[in-house]
Amino acid sequence: MSITVYVPGKLMLLGEHVVVYGYPCIVSSVNKFLKVECSFSEKFEDIIDIPKGTDDQLIKISVNTFRNKFQKKDKLHIKTESEITGFGLGSSAAVTVGVMKALSGLYEITLSRDKLFNLSYQTIIRLQPRSSGFDIASCIWGGTILFTGEDKNVESLSDNLLPILVIFSGAKADTVGMVEKVAVLKKNEPEKTAEAFQSIGKIVEKGRIALSQKDWMGFGKLMNENHELLRSLGISNNILDNLVETCLKAGAFGAKISGAGGGDCIIAIAPEARIEYIKRAVNSSGGKIIDMNVGETKGALNS
Ligand code: MEV
Repeated sequence: MSITVYVPGKLMLLGEHVVVYGYPCIVSSVNKFLKVECSFSEKFEDIIDIPKGTDDQLIKISVNTFRNKFQKKDKLHIKTESEITGFGLGSSAAVTVGVMKALSGLYEITLSRDKLFNLSYQTIIRLQPRSSGFDIASCIWGGTILFTGEDKNVESLSDNLLPILVIFSGAKADTVGMVEKVAVLKKNEPEKTAEAFQSIGKIVEKGRIALSQKDWMGFGKLMNENHELLRSLGISNNILDNLVETCLKAGAFGAKISGAGGGDCIIAIAPEARIEYIKRAVNSSGGKIIDMNVGETKGALNS
């Protein structure tokens, strides 16, 4: 018997970094996946098949957490394939959720979404202690959700496709490093940081309303404000700022960093009529459009 699970990647729309300090954020799933296949091992040892250049540490920790929790000892064969690694689309969260979900399928253990979240979150914070868990929630719930850092509450906002373009900057972000950078700033400049955090918190609240009204122009304006505040926290750079500027000049309603900053992707929200124009402008300014649908993909699913 073999279980296959497809876990979607994610994109942060509003509220990165502040979610680490308890605030809410808005995050969407995308139709790019990490696939986990799991069966009992044909040998007297675990077999882990992963794409070249990726790390098996999280898989091993996930398997151990599951074994300890459910008192299982069988040797396993786990294979992963990924369309989301290297772009900041949440591959660490996806591999953790995928392994937990595949193992629960293999052992016929029913896990609610909350239990799957708790097990996966418990696992990931062993490697990334400051992680908010928003990416785990996104790949379990799917669609667009409001995730609150403080109590890990999830509220589904929409299952609809959003008019969002995703642009890869060409460089991988160092998430742990960027989160640490904000932590240092918070310690050294507590007032400035507190003000920025509160403003971002308000932007997320307004974003939730704009989203419910499909007010894309309003949502874009909030993305621009969020980007400026992220810049003030020191997590942008010239490449990301130039890509944001290019999208805005080409007619986007709004554009911003998505995720930790320092690399990975920016996102832009735009009227249909400007999309092709923005794509051309981005291509000629060194960014790479990654074609994907944002906001309508269901959470982790067994095939
Ligand atoms: C990284 O994609 C998003 C951060 O908010 C970290 C986290 O929430 O765990 C910077």
